[in-house]
Amino acid sequence: MKNIVILILILSIFSFSCTNSSTKKTADLKMNTFVDGLLKKMTLDEKIGQLTLFTSDWSVTGGTMRKDYINLIEKGSVGAIFNAYTVDYVKKLQKIAVEKTRLGIPLIFGYDVIHGHRTIFPIPLAQASSWDLQAIEKSDRIAASEATAEGINWTFAPMVDIARDPRWGRVMEGAGEDTWLGSMIAVARVKGFQGDDLSAQNTLLACVKHFAAYGAPQAGRDYYTVDMSERSLYEWYLPPYKAAVKVGAASVMTSFNEIAGIPSSSNRWLLTDLLRKEWGFNGFVVSDYTSINELIPHGVAADSAQAGMLAINAGLDMDMQGSIYLNQLKDLLKSGKVSQETIDNSVRNVLVAKYKLGLFEDPYRYCSLEREAKEIMTPDNLAFAREFASKSAVLLKNSNKTLPIKRNIKTLAVIGPLGDSKPDMLGSWSAAGQSDKCVTLLEGLKNKLGNKTRIIYAKGCETDSCNTDGFAEALKIARQADFVILALGESASMSGEAASRSDLGLPGVQMDLARIIIKSGVTSAVVLFNGRPLAIEELDKIAPALLEVWFGGTEAGNGISDLLFGDVIPSGKLTITFPRNVGQIPIFYNVKNTGRPFDPSFPKDKYKSRYLDCPNTPLYPFGYGLSYTTFRYSNLSMQKTSLNKGEDIEASAEVTNTGEYDGDEIVQLYVHQKVGDVTRPIKELKGFKKVSIKKGESIKVSFILKMDELSYYHQNMSYNYDGGDYDLYIGPNSSEGLSISFRIL
Ligand code: GLC
Repeated sequence: MKNIVILILILSIFSFSCTNSSTKKTADLKMNTFVDGLLKKMTLDEKIGQLTLFTSDWSVTGGTMRKDYINLIEKGSVGAIFNAYTVDYVKKLQKIAVEKTRLGIPLIFGYDVIHGHRTIFPIPLAQASSWDLQAIEKSDRIAASEATAEGINWTFAPMVDIARDPRWGRVMEGAGEDTWLGSMIAVARVKGFQGDDLSAQNTLLACVKHFAAYGAPQAGRDYYTVDMSERSLYEWYLPPYKAAVKVGAASVMTSFNEIAGIPSSSNRWLLTDLLRKEWGFNGFVVSDYTSINELIPHGVAADSAQAGMLAINAGLDMDMQGSIYLNQLKDLLKSGKVSQETIDNSVRNVLVAKYKLGLFEDPYRYCSLEREAKEIMTPDNLAFAREFASKSAVLLKNSNKTLPIKRNIKTLAVIGPLGDSKPDMLGSWSAAGQSDKCVTLLEGLKNKLGNKTRIIYAKGCETDSCNTDGFAEALKIARQADFVILALGESASMSGEAASRSDLGLPGVQMDLARIIIKSGVTSAVVLFNGRPLAIEELDKIAPALLEVWFGGTEAGNGISDLLFGDVIPSGKLTITFPRNVGQIPIFYNVKNTGRPFDPSFPKDKYKSRYLDCPNTPLYPFGYGLSYTTFRYSNLSMQKTSLNKGEDIEASAEVTNTGEYDGDEIVQLYVHQKVGDVTRPIKELKGFKKVSIKKGESIKVSFILKMDELSYYHQNMSYNYDGGDYDLYIGPNSSEGLSISFRIL
């Protein structure tokens, strides 16, 4: 009887999977028949129109702007519009495309929905500091729901560029320095945006960017040269793009930069051989803002015609804002420099995306006034934004248990340029976010304390000016208070695109303000608002407590106040290294040992890899973050320390909450291969678990690591793992923890 049941079960699973795959085949056939049928009807002008993307004049995210984009839609010369939203406006433009052009091909509407649409969540670098993949996916699910409720069906996100240089302003937009964690976050983001059905009304096309290695510009200068070995490119920079493609990202955006002499927008190896042939990408590729035009200043194209030819022959389907395809493709086809097949392939890629969105079925499916009225900035969305702002913060220092602030304080002072600044709470790339709806730190504190505590405020100085006129007032306020919160950092516009900084100290005279206030003797804590790691070694020395809150979004003030008064216990950990000074950059955790590694226990050793004037260690390492409670790690053990190839690596450690608060701890697992075919990093993150532990309690945290996770690119660029000796670490960050060795036979 049992065998019959098992047989029936196997047959039903088999038939389900057959039905499933045949349903998919039927659907694909239907789609391809439709798309190819449409393609056959299209004129060359109509085809070129589908490869053209223009911004509306609703917001500016680049250097050029055409005012005639509406006329061009009516001429059938536009396939997609970005920076346009609200149901009314999208419907107006869509009606032109659908009702006034010959074939009525609907537009797709793109926008930089990077960390929220109307409800703005913490900047992506902050979100990454939560190490909470579910929360990251949920925030992009909400963002997609809000954006589609306003007519948008394509976001230019996730940005998955690995970045190890905080001088680069766009570190704020990514997940930090680690390839393994960055790949996990890339997947979570694509899933959040695209859901599991692109034709659903509340999902949209993701666009993984910026392909590739845009986060590695020399000197941390935006748009600057990227030059690295093939092995570094494959080992550290490509995996997050690949992970996003493998999970089904519908589009890819090329990066502005060159890699080793070849600009990404004309790199056929990158856009066709690697992306399509090796990785199997079947979506469409869009340029970045006029990045095709920029092949001319890059010096690989003499003019627009050559730029257009290089780009489309490389596999770049859609021209963002450059008008190059619109102006050049017809002649390039006539001259034989571009084939009809190449143009048709690119058009097909775009039409397939529109089909998958369901736009041919209903071009107005994203134009629901009812959804627009109901689904934006809902109480649930705002509540989650508040929770995420708390989860994304990182407690960097808390001497003498300065934090949390006691509820019974009589007078609380908020001092600093970030204390009551609505626009700055959103951070960069806040798209349709409304700063007037943001909760500042001062407002958040008032919301929490009501009139039980007297709250006084002084700006003290501007974010970035040399004027110290406000210091006296600030000091006067501080002397009246039982506790001072110093709200310091960068303005939102000091990070993001075209916002590289060569000096990573606190801007302006903020450090002078901090010195005066802290040295006045009043109990104080610094709350840091910034879009990148800052070189704040002196601040770290003098501040009793330091809470990194990044730019927390619409609910920033409430989320931070929850942390400051202990209603939420800090749990975030850094995903990017904080340098002591700019001179250490690039500095990151997974470095190579070199042939002359410096050992701090032998400080007199001269001929070692070190500085004369600064330690090698960072100010705060990757994975670092404190809690109001404390945790002790013990009993690291492995199931087996001698393993055969293919076996799972099983390790566990005990984590005890030794403090006064229940708390969450992000337990991290790192591995080091002692001898490789090429040099191997001293540590690589290969696992983490965020666990909640009640005060006084202990839990055993176990990891199962697939041996394939130890793979790397060998001298011959084969990707696999080796037998040999390894160290395994389990700890609170990349600098501390317990270790054990194991061998793969
Ligand atoms: C910008 C950015 C890119 C963005 C695009 C559209 O230049 O580099 O990330 O998606 O233009 O706004």
